[in-house]
Amino acid sequence: MAKKSKKAFYITTPIYYVNDVPHIGHAYTTIIADAITRYKKLLGEDVFFLTGTDEHGQKVEKAAKEKGLQPIELADQVVERYKHLWKALHISYDFFIRTTESIHEKGVQKIFRKLKDKGDIYKGIYKGWYCVSNEHYLADDVPLEKGGYKMCPDCGTKANIVSEDCYFFKLSAYQKPLLDFYAKNPNFARPPSRMNEVISFVKQGLKDLSITRTTVKWGIPVPDDSDHTIYVWFDALHNYLTGIGYDWNMENFNKFWPATVHLIGKDILRFHAIFWPAFLMAAEFPLPETVFGHGWWLKDETKMSKSKGNVLDPHIILKTFGADPLRYFLLREIPIGLDGNFSHEGFIHRVNSDLANDLGNLVHRTLTMIQNFFNGKIEEIDEEEGKDKKLRLGFEELKEKSFKFYEEYALNKALEEIWAYIRSVNKYLADNEPWKLAKDKSKKKRLGRILYQATAALRAISCLLYPVIPESSEKIWDLLGEENPISDVSLSGLKIEDLKLGQITKKPYPLFPRILLKDFLKEEKIQPVSSQKEEKMEYITFDEFKSMDLRVGEILKAEKVEGTDKLIKMEADIGTETRTIVAGVADAYSPEELVGKKVVMIVNLKPAVIRGIESKGMLLAAEVEGKASIPFFDKDIPPGSKVV
Ligand code: ME8
Ligand code: MG
Repeated sequence: MAKKSKKAFYITTPIYYVNDVPHIGHAYTTIIADAITRYKKLLGEDVFFLTGTDEHGQKVEKAAKEKGLQPIELADQVVERYKHLWKALHISYDFFIRTTESIHEKGVQKIFRKLKDKGDIYKGIYKGWYCVSNEHYLADDVPLEKGGYKMCPDCGTKANIVSEDCYFFKLSAYQKPLLDFYAKNPNFARPPSRMNEVISFVKQGLKDLSITRTTVKWGIPVPDDSDHTIYVWFDALHNYLTGIGYDWNMENFNKFWPATVHLIGKDILRFHAIFWPAFLMAAEFPLPETVFGHGWWLKDETKMSKSKGNVLDPHIILKTFGADPLRYFLLREIPIGLDGNFSHEGFIHRVNSDLANDLGNLVHRTLTMIQNFFNGKIEEIDEEEGKDKKLRLGFEELKEKSFKFYEEYALNKALEEIWAYIRSVNKYLADNEPWKLAKDKSKKKRLGRILYQATAALRAISCLLYPVIPESSEKIWDLLGEENPISDVSLSGLKIEDLKLGQITKKPYPLFPRILLKDFLKEEKIQPVSSQKEEKMEYITFDEFKSMDLRVGEILKAEKVEGTDKLIKMEADIGTETRTIVAGVADAYSPEELVGKKVVMIVNLKPAVIRGIESKGMLLAAEVEGKASIPFFDKDIPPGSKVV
């Protein structure tokens, strides 16, 4: 096999199941891969970025049946959804592999045959507990439940006993070679906690793995024994070979294999860090350099997943904000190995403060001043002074640090450093007060230097940010009047003083409009009475009723929420504390007539952020012809009294 050239960089995402449509979790992995790819390409490295879809197996067969479709019809539909999403997110993959394509199926069959001929695959009988949802047999140490069945520890669904004639992969023979491999390559699974998890699992002993099914028809047929189909995980993992040309474009394959990094969620670590290297050893391929298991995006503290039905559809965010704010948020918000909770409030806060305020303002104020004081073009500048030099050297330092973090895939840390620098450029402007210098004609060249220095920093920053927010970086680049595309920049030689004097900059426009929470939380949600049509009566228990903490609240202050017709913000005394609440009652009451009134409030309702105001509680009201009517007390009762 040809030796891999030193600079080839091969990165993959998992191939996603087509039993349902993509969500934020899938977008996360793919965005990380895209940012790393763009970074490596800017460094001039030869990069191949593979993604795709995992289309065979019981899970897809079942989902298609439920929808009244053939599996391939479902796959075709979902593939379109994925490709559409990747386009909207500006994902620059080099190839999209589908496991139902013949280039893949043939490659898998070829390897299967090779392992069978070698004796690493043999025929036997398998009996075990099988989880349909995750498509795997449960490990032996999963305990039997009281009812005599087993539950899948990963997804919590009931497993079935399955007994079948099948082919096995001799995984047991690879326990020692795997442990030796991990010992020599302690950075194989990353972050380090994942490596430890893998090693301790392998040390407990490995059993041979059943890798075919007779119960599943939707799969790649076993060569020369077509009653059997190849188990979806054996099938799927080999996409990393077929997707770069194994057996159909060997030149490309030899250039890029072995993979530099398989990026995955920690849910599929064992498949990638144990089974996969064992399959590769058996087939005598070199092993990948790294398997990087990132953390999970959670919603309400549990993993976002199709089976739990708590997924977030990225299209809603994309429609309102475009790709960059979402890319930025997902990469900035959590360290790559850890879990994070997705909240719309967190998203808005991050985007407003980092993108709109720090970066957006820097672009806007700098370019506006160049328009106003220099008609868009700085031609003459003073010598560099101490503060200017500090800014230039600061960039050198930033470059070194952010490269280091990019290389470690610690994108959040790279972004943290870049933002610290952005803030220092803003501070440089504030400290030098160019708007004051502009009043003194004799200071024109000094003014030129300051604005040149800030613009040069901005130019350099936009290159460092291009991997994460490509569209916005391109826009900044265009505003700066650069002629060649930003993707042509060579990152390694990048310097702050690369900005040419006399370049014609453009009039800025807001790059990141500030966003309002109302774009997510629609106003209907917070009207006092649901305006939905009468539904069938559903009874609740007394305990359910008791779980509501209803109390008398006295309204101390009230004012209209600016820019809305319906909303009033109030401070209410609920006996133990004062709460801020927002209610949609302004069309029926003025703030003045509410002050001093006592109302019924539910105080243990989950707080909601409404127009940027955290509303901690809700007052009860009737809805009459679309207008709120609030029940007030006819006696003077103390605030905080329980309402039951
Ligand atoms: O497992 N947070 O496909 P899949 C972060 N077909 N990442 C998440 C996530 C979440 N809440 N949910 C999903 C499969 N992901 C197999 C893979 S590879 C040879 C075969 C991401 O559609 C994460 O990358 O269930 C995870 O590993 C992957 O989606 C699982 O996608
Ligand atoms: Mg999954």
